Order: sequence, then C-alpha cells, then structure tokens
Amino acid sequence: MSASPSIPRADLYAAADRFGTPLYVYDAAELDAALARVQAAFGGARVFYAMKANPNLALLARLRASGVGFECVSAGEIARAEHVGAGGEDILVNGPAKSREEYETGARLGAIFVVDREEEVGLLPPGSRALVRVNPALNVSTHDHLATGAAGSKFGVTPAQAPGVLRALREAGHHALGLHVHIGSAIRLVTDFGAAFARLAELRAHTGELEVLDVGGGWGLGADLPGIAREAREAASAFGAQLWVEPGRYLVARAGTLLTRVVGTKRTGRNFLLTDAGMTELLRPMLYGAVHPVTPLWDGGEAQTWDVAGPACESGDLLARDVALPEPNPGDLLAVGDAGAYGAAMSGSYLTRPRPAEALWEGGAWRLIRRRETPRDVWAAEMGAYTASTHDRQGP
Ligand code: LLP
Repeated sequence: MSASPSIPRADLYAAADRFGTPLYVYDAAELDAALARVQAAFGGARVFYAMKANPNLALLARLRASGVGFECVSAGEIARAEHVGAGGEDILVNGPAKSREEYETGARLGAIFVVDREEEVGLLPPGSRALVRVNPALNVSTHDHLATGAAGSKFGVTPAQAPGVLRALREAGHHALGLHVHIGSAIRLVTDFGAAFARLAELRAHTGELEVLDVGGGWGLGADLPGIAREAREAASAFGAQLWVEPGRYLVARAGTLLTRVVGTKRTGRNFLLTDAGMTELLRPMLYGAVHPVTPLWDGGEAQTWDVAGPACESGDLLARDVALPEPNPGDLLAVGDAGAYGAAMSGSYLTRPRPAEALWEGGAWRLIRRRETPRDVWAAEMGAYTASTHDRQGP
C-alpha cells in the first residue's frame, strides 16, 4: 500500500528514518499533474499560484519553471517570489490591509496590486497596475472561516462601488486592469462560483470592457474544474477580458503527506492513537474541523476505531476522529493525506516544537527541501536580548 499518490511504503520509511518525523513529503509528479489539470481546464488563462498554501522555495521554483506567477499577501511572500526569479508581471500583491513595505516592495518590482478598498487608490505607488477586488456578497458552501465573499466578510468592495473605484484608479493615473473576485476556499459547488462570476459580469454595463478578469482560487479538492472554468470563461468574455486564476490548495494539497510516527496507544473508553505530530504541524483539523485521510503504513489485523491525538497539551489536538485503523506498534508510520496545502505553511513553533522537515520525492529519490528546525532556531530571535544579560552562561 502507498500513502500519497505513488510513493512506495519502503521509501516513506526511508525518508522518516533519514529526515526524522514529523515530516512533510511531497510527490513532484502529483504537483506537476495538478498543474497540468489546471492548465487543461483553464487553457489560456494566466495562473498565479497563491503561495500562502505552501511557500516552500523548491515548490515555488518548480511552478515558476512552468511559467506560473504568484499571488502574494505579505512582504515576505513577495520576497519569496522575487527569490525564485519572478518579475513584476508575475506578482500579484493582495491583502485587505497592506503595509507600506508591501506597497514599496511591490512598486520596486513593478508588481500588480489588487485593490481591496476605495482608500487604497490614494496609497498605491504612482502609475501602478491594479485590479479591483469585488465582494459579491454571496453565501457559499464552505466553513465560515473560509468564506471570503459573504456579505459580512472584510474583503473587497461592493459591486456597486467597483465601477467607481476603477474610474478613480484611472483618474489617479494608475493602470486599472480589471476586476478580481475570490469567494473563499475549499468550495466544491460549481454553482457557487457561477453565481459569483455572474454577479461580476453584471457590472459590464457600468465598467465597459476590461483587460483582465481575475477569478481567484478556492477550488476544493475534487471540484469540477472544467465546470468552474466554463463559468469563469463566460464571465471573462462578457468583459472581453483575459482570464486570470489564483489556485492555492488545488495545486499542492494532494501532492503533500504528513508522515507521523505512532508513539503509542491509550484506552480510556475512547481509543487514542498517539502520534508525534499534532496541531503544531497540521492545524486544519483543529481550526476548521477539516478531515484529512489517514493511511496506516503498517500491516495489522482487524480495524478498530481511533482518535488520532498529537503531543500538545490541548484537548483539541487531534489529527483525526473516529477513524478505522489496525492496532499499531510504536514507531509505525501514519500518513496524513491531502496535507500539501496549508499544512507546513500553517505549522508553528508553539510549545517550542521545532517545525518539521520537508522532502520532495522526485524521479525515485528524496530531496530535502526544508531542514528540520532545532529548538535553537525557535528561540533564535530572542537570543540577542537574552545574551545581553548576565544570566547567560553559554555565551552567544
Ligand atoms: N486568492 C486569494 C485572494 C485568496 O485569499 C486565496 C486563499 C487564494 C487565492 C487561494 O485559495 P485556495 O485555492 O487555496 O482555496 N488556511 C485555509 C485556507 C485559507 C485560504 C485563504 N485565501 C485552509 O487551511 O483551508
């Protein structure tokens, strides 16, 4: 049996032995396949990878080599894009509360800004290229935290405001490229996307033709990509616009697996399978009630029902609930699937847990693409302050 798409079990154990666990592994072939599916469905559209899903430089470089640009929401993300050789044309600077540093770095690179509120027109560097983000005020089928196009959401301007913001951009000497919409994340219903894109297309009467329609990302795993693409193309053609897309999860989720070792078991009325990974490595189950498939990489007898619990001192630190798995032995590996997006990216060092290593499976071999942190890495930024005191016995 294999876990993530096509990596043999023996190679997963070899990676765990070599790089330690918890460990994020990525299958390069699956990453390439996901991009190919996007390009096939959205043929001709420009793809800007939303790097918040997984900003690992090795993955960015691989996507960049296929001509993909980047959607960035922080100065750090812009720096990553620059680091892998993206130019201004290939960088979208997005976000509801951009900092001065983000405007400045974006401007230095000649990046394209996504305007999120009217006041930003006056904040953009002179002569900026810009899109205007529209909030279509629709309820979509996803977790509340993942809905960004609902009436109460902080993102974008109202459809009624959008034509005025485009005009204001032009009057201020900026290059108003067109409109942007992103209604949320992990959405599977084509009708949700269709409704949002149609709401934008209605603005055609007030905006005239536009160069670009950017329909964001948000495609849930297993979503009907050709169906979403059809709706997007229809809206873009209403404006005579080129279509841009910003997938995050769809490009990287399936390629990634979190490998964790079984620490032991515990029976207290519930069966707990204790693992060396938890909320600090994969926050999504705790934060969104997300369900990630777990695959046992051991042979065993009859399956029992388990809660998979991590090492943190928090009751919510569960990777999975009520899953059927055979009895493990300590040291066995459990593979947590669909973890390539918002897994490593949202991992943290709470409890001074060093962030895990990441390895890429490519051409039948492993490549370490992020080394495991050490506790010292976690407290590195405190060290200057601390070593200045007389309490330090170890020295700098
Ligand atoms: N474009 C914009 C403007 C976005 O805000 C996002 C995601 C994307 C594109 C990419 O969305 P995707 O294709 O990945 O759904 N941490 C959450 C997901 C938050 C997504 C935030 N914005 C999770 O773990 O599910």
